[in-house]
Amino acid sequence: MEADIRDIKLAPYGHTKIEWVKNNMPLLRGLEKEFSETKPFAGVRISLSIHLEPKTAYLCKVLAAGGAEMSITGSNSLSTQDDVCAALVEDGLKVFAYHGATEEEYARHIEMCLEHKPHIIIDDGGDLVGLIHEKRPDLGECCWGGCEETTTGVIRLKAMERDGVLKFPMVAVNDADCKHLFDNRYGTGQSVWDSIMRNTNLIVASKTVVVIGYGWCSKGIAMRAAALGARVIVTEIDPVKAMEAKMDGYDVMKMDQAAPLGDIFVTATGCKHTITVPQMRTMKDRAILANAGHFNVEIDMAGLEEAAVSSYETRKNITGYVLPVDPDDPDGECKLINVIGEGKLANIAAGDGHPAEIMDLSFAVQALSALYIKEHAGALPKAVIDVSEEIDDVIARRRLDAWGIEIDQLTPEQEAYLNSWQF
Ligand code: NAI
Repeated sequence: MEADIRDIKLAPYGHTKIEWVKNNMPLLRGLEKEFSETKPFAGVRISLSIHLEPKTAYLCKVLAAGGAEMSITGSNSLSTQDDVCAALVEDGLKVFAYHGATEEEYARHIEMCLEHKPHIIIDDGGDLVGLIHEKRPDLGECCWGGCEETTTGVIRLKAMERDGVLKFPMVAVNDADCKHLFDNRYGTGQSVWDSIMRNTNLIVASKTVVVIGYGWCSKGIAMRAAALGARVIVTEIDPVKAMEAKMDGYDVMKMDQAAPLGDIFVTATGCKHTITVPQMRTMKDRAILANAGHFNVEIDMAGLEEAAVSSYETRKNITGYVLPVDPDDPDGECKLINVIGEGKLANIAAGDGHPAEIMDLSFAVQALSALYIKEHAGALPKAVIDVSEEIDDVIARRRLDAWGIEIDQLTPEQEAYLNSWQF
């Protein structure tokens, strides 16, 4: 089967969406032009699993322009856009995804995507790599390597490397400066608030926002919350990050202390159960909860569903859970706890994801890292590999060029001075 999508007639809407992001992704446009001329991926099979929306679609088209034979799936069925899938299929690419696929259907799509027997994998959260290692080790034999988009995926790959089970090299795209400094911080910072604001239609100014974690994503989320006029409280487990948050001007405290104070809670840690049901019972009535971490385990959704006496759609993309304050008295006082996008990544499952200009940077790192794997096929260790400094440098310079910004260069004297050890 060549594709598993819902409705090819949606393709015109998808093409328009892809055209919009293309016009705002100068780095990928430049790579598309280069790749079209040089065809560096001719005969190379690439399987990709990333949130299947217009920016990802354009990355797929850029790789295909370079000769790659693409096989594509999403990385979360709620973020898959059917019209975008249809546009890719119309362009001759293989797509296995549709919006709202069940867990079983999603797993089937991942399997179908891998039937392609990829030389290169482009993953977001480790679903493709996980399936090869758990169920289809034979596919690891023909795979030269892959690229991982996000923090959570890289953490898992490093655990696999430590246990000596990683079957092929994986480039940690997330760890490139041109990725996490911009995508995780400014991308998540903006798009999470875009999602919260459009889904709630409420004011952020005057509210107390609790940001859980103070890593790259949470820094952006806290920064934008403060800029919107909120009082920001940060919770952390790392003393250095906690100190950083304090120095950046936020209140820092334990989650148990923050729970009764917040109006809006945003978690972005990569950890599980950062917001627990006992903490939700102490929250204000009508508190709003959003997750920006990769998996829907940060808010204890299973616990909340079990503990709530009822739930209903309070607004599009928001579920309100009626939660008794006292677990032993379900008929007593209750709080309404509002969760955006089922506790999945709020900015992607209930929003448009990162801005196009941000994904331009991240996907330029992906495209050049895929090229790096192709050029070094068979020569790389079965390990998690850093993106080379040259790739970060090239991307940053091209982005500055696109803005029309020139920067200084070291003079030979300055270079000699910086390289000398004499005092
Ligand atoms: P990071 O490693 O920079 O930061 C995570 C922070 O959470 C660390 O400072 C850590 O100490 C803290 N933390 C861990 N457990 C905690 C707990 N129980 N309570 C409080 N703090 C805790 O990671 P980064 O890059 O910020 O990514 C976080 C998550 O967001 C990951 O799952 C990543 O895959 C995901 N992500 C989501 C994006 C989106 O579009 N929503 C974009 C990029 C990453």
